[in-house]
Amino acid sequence: MAQKMKTAVLVSGGGTNLQALIDSIDRGEVTSAELVCVIANKENAYALERARKAGIPAKAITANFEEEALTFLKECGAELIVLAGFLSILGKGILSAYKDRIINIHPSLIPSFCGKGYYGLHVHEKVLEYGVKLTGATVHFVSEEVDGGVIIAQKSVQVRHDDTPEILQKRVMEEAEWVILPRALELVAAGRVQIQGRMAVINE
Ligand code: GAR
Repeated sequence: MAQKMKTAVLVSGGGTNLQALIDSIDRGEVTSAELVCVIANKENAYALERARKAGIPAKAITANFEEEALTFLKECGAELIVLAGFLSILGKGILSAYKDRIINIHPSLIPSFCGKGYYGLHVHEKVLEYGVKLTGATVHFVSEEVDGGVIIAQKSVQVRHDDTPEILQKRVMEEAEWVILPRALELVAAGRVQIQGRMAVINE
């Protein structure tokens, strides 16, 4: 059996995307990655509880994030990082140490409704304000440009006229995020994604 890619997950809140990763590994749908640690930038992130329940080393880092996180990532032997609802912008230290080895889930179809200020529920508020009929989720590599890295996977979701931001957020999570994030992790961890310019070439 090939070595599994040692993967760290960075979180800020509820951690439903982290849970989707844990469950996909348990079900044997993700076989090329193992979760070696979870890092939250908030003390009370429920995601930490989910990690502990799953037996994954977990830590909240609320000061000197970059330095402390890099130390913990090294301790855990992390080779790949997944931002799963990590609602802060990563510093240059981690970005260069893990170049092309950080992926992020964003709750819209990039390049719509993304960039600075577009995170969590705000994204769905803006989608409803604009009145688009389709939204969705995107998994992409993380680069210095916020939400601007090469796209790995996208899935669309219908917007309904009577949606609230909360209802839409839930549908985007269930129909798109929890589906494409585990799939993208498996593809990247298995070495089946190559970056060619702006394009991710997926070897299915
Ligand atoms: C998810 O919808 C995720 O896509 C979004 O925050 C939520 C976290 O939920 N991330 C961003 O907006 C990143 N720009 P979770 O903690 O339950 O996974």
